[in-house]
This record gives sequence, C-alpha cells and structure tokens, in this order.
Amino acid sequence: MIMKAKPFIKWVGGKKQLLEQFDSYYPKEIKKGTIKNYIEPFLGGGALFFAISQRFNLENVYLSDLNKDLILTYQVIQQKPDDLLDFLESYQKEYDFTEQEKRNDLFLAIRKHFNLQRFEINYKKLSDNWVSRAAQFIFLNKTCFNGLFRLNSKGEFNVPYGKYKTAMIFDAPNILAVSQVLKKAEIVQADYSACFDRVTQDSFVYFDPPYRPISQTAAFTTYTGTEFTDKEQLKLANFFQKLDKEKKAKLMLSNSDPTNENPADDFFQKAYESYNIFKVSASRAINCNGEKRGKINELLITNYEYEPSTLAINF
Ligand SMILES: C[S@@+](CC[C@H](N)C(=O)[O-])C[C@H]1O[C@@H](n2cnc3c(N)ncnc32)[C@H](O)[C@@H]1O
Repeated sequence: MIMKAKPFIKWVGGKKQLLEQFDSYYPKEIKKGTIKNYIEPFLGGGALFFAISQRFNLENVYLSDLNKDLILTYQVIQQKPDDLLDFLESYQKEYDFTEQEKRNDLFLAIRKHFNLQRFEINYKKLSDNWVSRAAQFIFLNKTCFNGLFRLNSKGEFNVPYGKYKTAMIFDAPNILAVSQVLKKAEIVQADYSACFDRVTQDSFVYFDPPYRPISQTAAFTTYTGTEFTDKEQLKLANFFQKLDKEKKAKLMLSNSDPTNENPADDFFQKAYESYNIFKVSASRAINCNGEKRGKINELLITNYEYEPSTLAINF
C-alpha cells in the first residue's frame, strides 16, 4: 500500500501541528461529501491540502502560490518524480560524503548555481532544467537556516547554511506518494486572486496568507520578494467577502492573532467583522531567530458555522 503523502519541505507558517485542531472547523459539507472542489491559493508546504485530499473524496483541486520556484517544484513532483529522485539522491550523497567543515562551501555553491540559473528558466514550460532546479530548491530548503525562503531585492535566495549535523534532504516514498496525490491537482503560480474563476458554490477555499507579524521583532519572511502588508491583508479580506457574497463557497482563513502581543489590537475583528473568528492554540517561533517558541493563539476565520463538538473559544 502506498504511504500517506505529507509536506516534502519545511515552510514558515506550516500548519502540520494545527491540523488536528483545524479538523473541527472544516465545513460539514466536506465531511458529507457534497463539497467536491478544494482550493488553496497560499499553498506553501500544503499541510492542509495533504490532509484533506487523502481523507475526503474531492473531484477538483486547485493549488497556487506566488512563489515561482515552489510551484515549479510541485509541478516537477507531479510530472517527473523519478527524474527528481535521481537528482535528490546525488545531492544527498554529496552532502553526506562532504566533511562537516566543508558543507557550508557545498551549500554556497549550490545556492550560487540556483541563483544564476534563474535567468535560464522558462517558468511557463516544463523542461529538463526544471528537474535540477526543483532538486536544488529542496536541497536548499532542507539545509538552509530554519528552512526559510527569503529573496533579496535582486531576487537572489540569500538564506545562510543551517549547520545541521545530518540532513534528510528527501524521503523517496513520500515524494512518490506526493506525486500520486498531486495527479488530480491543477498547480498554478499566481496571485491568490486568480482563483476567483475556479470557485463555485460547492468549493472549500482555505486561505493561509503570510502572517501579519505579531510584533516588531517577529519573524518576517518575504516568501516571494514582496511584503504582505496590512494593506494587502485588507485587500484579502475584501476578496474573502467577494467570494462569500458572489460565489457562496465555504471559506476558511488562518492568521496570527495580534492580541497575543497587544490585547487592544482589533485589526482582524474589524477586517472580518461579519464572519466567525475562532482562536486555536499554536506553538511557534515568536522572534526573528526562531529560538524563542511559545504557546500563542492563532486565528481561524470562517464564513460558515462549525461543528458544535469543538472546544474552541469564540469571541
Ligand atoms: C503562511 S505561508 C503558507 C503556509 C502553508 N499553508 C503551509 O502549511 O506550509 C504563505 C504563502 O503565501 C505565499 N504568498 C505570498 N503572497 C502571495 C500572494 N499575493 N498570492 C499567493 N500566494 C502568496 C507565500 O509564497 C507562502 O508560500
């Protein structure tokens, strides 16, 4: 039997540890099987997609993210998993056989190649150089500092080496399982708003935008080279409202809870005032070094009622 697919990269804001809590908040229609379309327009590591797609019977899946190399990697896993595995195996061997003190040089060499190669890539058409790029993307993700993805103003990936004693760059059975699960998905590099035409009344849309920083010192990553400012958060809230009114789809959105830091901050209550706002408890990095971890609340916003069995606290 094929194993269950799970995220193949580390991603800031990954929802793996929150899946169990999120479970009670899925629309009841997805549990009954009347929702057939799943849409995730801030895909990242895709934890929710993997959980939902292997549990419920979906007919159509639309996955998108603005990050070009992330989407390229998903497309390579979907279409060329065996070629990708060949590359990943050689990177793993190279890493394992390189002495500890020379691994930083190996990392920097691969990072340099990855950055130079971006000029030769045609992101619109799958080609052989996509496969090596996807392998490099995964290698860098698993060996860089905290799995961060950060681009400088020139569009160069600039996260330093993570100094790991061992690094498991990939898990072959998982890559094959991911490829299988992705078979029925449409995977698109786009702004979240491009999903509008795909949304229907029988769709479940899950939004996991970049977190609104919980403090001035909070970890902030521009996954795509552009910041997701408060203005962007409000634009997204308008889009949420538009989908609710015009498409009548089931919508769920998560974000950081600003009241963790400032009890008077009602940014999300205002932005989503006509919707349900719940708090779930998360453990995540709360400063820029990712060293300080603590229990904090995270917000979950829906345009539908949740199953009454949950223990969540409503506002
Ligand atoms: C919080 S992460 C998603 C985490 C993900 N759900 C997981 O479980 O790993 C936010 C994602 O939004 C993407 N993003 C940022 N701005 C975007 C935009 N305007 N449209 C679509 N995706 C965007 C980033 O590239 C990043 O992958």
